[in-house]
Amino acid sequence: MVLVDASQPGAVDLAAEIQALKKSLNAVVLAHYYQYGEVQDVADFIGDSLQLAREAAQVKADVIVFCGVHFMAETAKIMSPDKLVLLPDLAAGCSLSESAPAGPFAEFVAAHPDHTVVTYVNSSAAVKALSDYCCTSSNAVDVVNSIPKGKPIIFAPDRFLGDWVMRETGRDMLLWEGSCEVHELFSEDKIVDLKQQHPGAITLVHPECPAPVRALADVIGSTKKLLEAVRAGEPNATYVVVTEPGIIHQMQHAAPQATFIMAPAEIRGNEQGACTSCNECPHMKRNTLEKLYLCMRDQSPSLELPADLIKRARLPIERMLSIG
Ligand code: 13P
Ligand code: SF4
Repeated sequence: MVLVDASQPGAVDLAAEIQALKKSLNAVVLAHYYQYGEVQDVADFIGDSLQLAREAAQVKADVIVFCGVHFMAETAKIMSPDKLVLLPDLAAGCSLSESAPAGPFAEFVAAHPDHTVVTYVNSSAAVKALSDYCCTSSNAVDVVNSIPKGKPIIFAPDRFLGDWVMRETGRDMLLWEGSCEVHELFSEDKIVDLKQQHPGAITLVHPECPAPVRALADVIGSTKKLLEAVRAGEPNATYVVVTEPGIIHQMQHAAPQATFIMAPAEIRGNEQGACTSCNECPHMKRNTLEKLYLCMRDQSPSLELPADLIKRARLPIERMLSIG
């Protein structure tokens, strides 16, 4: 659906309008690395989940425009409840967050009262409110290491990230069976083929991927860590990128002469060949430059949460922000 046709003569210059709206609203635009390049280009701050949560907690502006998914905007609202938090598309969800509904999760937690509950930030505010700690892929290992040895741990909702954290920390954890619909689909066989075709290429893998894919990695880490690996690498290096392709926009800025090869996903539902867009997050990609402009122009949709939920979900996020 075209909401504003910027290609027509006399049409709105979306990027210029967004800059003007930032001033008139006293707004700051935060964007995750998985956003479209043109959205990242108008943002005041671009980051991984942890960086964005930290930024949202300390922002001075009156309005936070969050170009990411719903749980990220919720975190911003919980940490800055007096700000107006706008999200270009309120329906930008997350398969991980949806895999842990608050009701069944509350029962699971109640069935293990001796466990410390560590929840990946990719979860709803209601699930965060049932948790002792939140974490992101940036600091999950540090968060788990901060819990006294011998204390049993529930880790939710990403079983693949949980499995990686168990291997990194040597801790046995009770895992919730969620997964990211993007990262679980990367094809191990096709990554092996790419590594053979490009000897010397550096394989960058997000820890939301299953163990056999992680086993092919030279670097495993959050989007920030993968970007830092490119910044620190040889200018002409070749990279196989095993995470959402939005990150390549900043990687290209960091190393314009490097080559970036996007790892393909398994074919979804047809036998015609590799699906080229299955590795795009359909939720992150709901936010377009048009919707960003419209949400600022209309100051809607905004993210609202009940005050008591904000209060209950805040402590595990504060603990997350203080670690790593
Ligand atoms: P990070 O930005 O923390 O690496 O997370 C990736 C992700 O899937 C966000 O939803
Ligand atoms: Fe959720 Fe995966 Fe999309 Fe991240 S990439 S927002 S974890 S569905």
